Amino acid sequence: MKQELEAIREKAMRELEEAKGQQVLESLRIQYLGKKGELTSILKQMGSLSAEERPKIGQLANEIRAFIEQDLVKRAAELKEEETARRLEKEKIDVTMPGTRHELGHKHPLSIELDAIKEIFVGMGFEIVEGPEVEYDYYNFEALNIPKDHPARDTQDTFYINDNILLRTQTSPVQVRVMEKQKPPIRIISPGRVYRSDAVDATHSPLFHQIEGLVVDKGITFADLKGTLETFVKRMYGEDSVVRFRPHHFPFTEPSAEVDVQCFNCHGEGCRLCKGEGWIEILGCGMVHPKVLSNCGIDPEVYSGFALGMGLERVVMRKYSIDDMRLFYENDVRFLRQF
Ligand code: DAH
Repeated sequence: MKQELEAIREKAMRELEEAKGQQVLESLRIQYLGKKGELTSILKQMGSLSAEERPKIGQLANEIRAFIEQDLVKRAAELKEEETARRLEKEKIDVTMPGTRHELGHKHPLSIELDAIKEIFVGMGFEIVEGPEVEYDYYNFEALNIPKDHPARDTQDTFYINDNILLRTQTSPVQVRVMEKQKPPIRIISPGRVYRSDAVDATHSPLFHQIEGLVVDKGITFADLKGTLETFVKRMYGEDSVVRFRPHHFPFTEPSAEVDVQCFNCHGEGCRLCKGEGWIEILGCGMVHPKVLSNCGIDPEVYSGFALGMGLERVVMRKYSIDDMRLFYENDVRFLRQF
């Protein structure tokens, strides 16, 4: 029995030394010291020993048990150390390595210019409001004095959800929404996306952006419109900018005008940017039609107002001599980085 015990000690020592991992250690512990373990089963045979031998073997067995327990603890500590060392090696950070460069983006040119435009109008006391892109025919056309058979509809064909609901072709419906809710004085601009069923080319996109403006109060005249737009243009394109108003027609304003800025590239001489005209058209505007006011429950005998609408892409294209609108939407960083 003594030899058997010594053999167990040897075997346990070897196996413990080779154990790789805490799980293996635990199964070795059970194998030797567990209730059905090798040491235990030997001790169970002690009954067959003589009274003389029993204490000696008992003592040896206890020694071996203590020895194995000690070895288990020692090996467990070793394994833990090895594991830590391995982890430190793997997770080592070399602070002298070059870092990963994160390229910082910046605002899109359309956003840069829209922010500039908003700031100019906010500076003149305008509020910024938003309207829905999916709009009722009523707001987009009817209330703006563009009935079903009006030829103006032909130039603004769009995407219809059903007979009464469409993707708005202009930001002008926001005028109606604001006037229905808010009584004068009104002074708002409303930027946003608009849609038309146009094929994509250098100057057309089925989605583009407009900025609407509306002022309604007692005693608003065309002089207020001119002053506001002149101020806007000078802030936007520089103090020496020259503005021209050309008579035009819009169903929802009367009188109506288109506004040109003298070409800031050639100062009126005529160049490639202004296509030889010396002037660049930037927006449409006019005095709010009395019918539109009364459609919104505002008495045209008491109040008057002006409205304006400009295309954001156009304004930005002209400011930077960009000749292809598609550049705005293609996300080519070689283009976008230039702003
Ligand atoms: N909504 C017009 C368009 O898309 C632009 C416009 C013209 C807006 C005159 C106005 C305005 O508010 O007074 O062509």
